[in-house]
Amino acid sequence: MDALLKQFERLKRPIDMVQTLHDRQLKEVPARYILPSDQRPVPAIEAPQSIPVIDLAAHHSEIVTQVAKESQDWGFFQRIKRVSKEFFDLSLEEKRRQCPVRPGTRMLEGYGRFFDISDVTVLDWVDALVHYISPPSVKAVEHWPKTPHTYRETYEKYGEEVLKLTDKLLGMLSEGLGLDPNYFRTLIKEPLLQLRINYYPPCPQPDLVNGLRPHSDGNLLTVLIDDQVDGLQVRKGEEWFTISPVPGSLVVNIGDLLQIISNGKYTSAEHRAVVNTNQYRMSVVMFLNPQDDVLIAPAPELIDETHPRLYQSILSQEYGTTYMSKDNRGKAPVEALILS
Ligand code: OGA
Ligand code: NI
Repeated sequence: MDALLKQFERLKRPIDMVQTLHDRQLKEVPARYILPSDQRPVPAIEAPQSIPVIDLAAHHSEIVTQVAKESQDWGFFQRIKRVSKEFFDLSLEEKRRQCPVRPGTRMLEGYGRFFDISDVTVLDWVDALVHYISPPSVKAVEHWPKTPHTYRETYEKYGEEVLKLTDKLLGMLSEGLGLDPNYFRTLIKEPLLQLRINYYPPCPQPDLVNGLRPHSDGNLLTVLIDDQVDGLQVRKGEEWFTISPVPGSLVVNIGDLLQIISNGKYTSAEHRAVVNTNQYRMSVVMFLNPQDDVLIAPAPELIDETHPRLYQSILSQEYGTTYMSKDNRGKAPVEALILS
């Protein structure tokens, strides 16, 4: 909690929302957003065929078919994006009034900027709305947007679909490791589901900035809706590949915790977002986490003489705190746990 309050205090330093900078029609980005020349997003490569697009409906059991149908429903996607955009279209004052940044159960929640940890970090060209979706004990609906009035029911419904989908995916992923299909279900107890809506306004000098800095997600599994505008990139070796949005599809990311539990059999992908000069971009991101008191460690079943244990164990909550405290993230948070 102390760490959270400290973070909260730091965030109280006045930093303009990127949307405000955009409204001022700046011709140049402020200095604090400009990356050192060796870190700028050089033109990325279109992703090769090897980035898998999985049609869940074509796989597995009936439940998957059902979930996939619901969550891949085009109309429902449009609705999620519409209610989200309507919130971001409110005035700055109104957004801040409805969803002020506040310390939630485990993370800061509200409408604001969340990665500006230290004074030396180069800032990201993104604003965000963050809050818990589930379980009921941590979701504070009184702090969710009130405009549009359909926001709450839309995200409650989407949250249910994401929980069904991630439950199914985790079952498949545990089988892929040769573990009991209920391995993750048992481990995580009641899952915590967080939402972050990223809003990237157009930027006068997109080649100089990060939309969202390189990172891997510090959770178990991430489900992302991309808004038809290129921006998401994944790193493979020294190269960055653009993941172009596929209409009606979700992007599923493996998070650091899954890398640790699988003892490195699954890898959390390093990714970032870039911005452009003429279009805003929005992404709707759901992060699935275990309960705070769950000990994250390589599954003992996956360790033997030929597969030595690779990572230290850490409490889920503690990982969240150290993750947020690392500024220049990349894969540093998970790499810090590698046993030497
Ligand atoms: C994230 C993320 C990418 C995007 O929110 O963790 O990686 O395209 N977002 O917004
Ligand atoms: Ni991410």
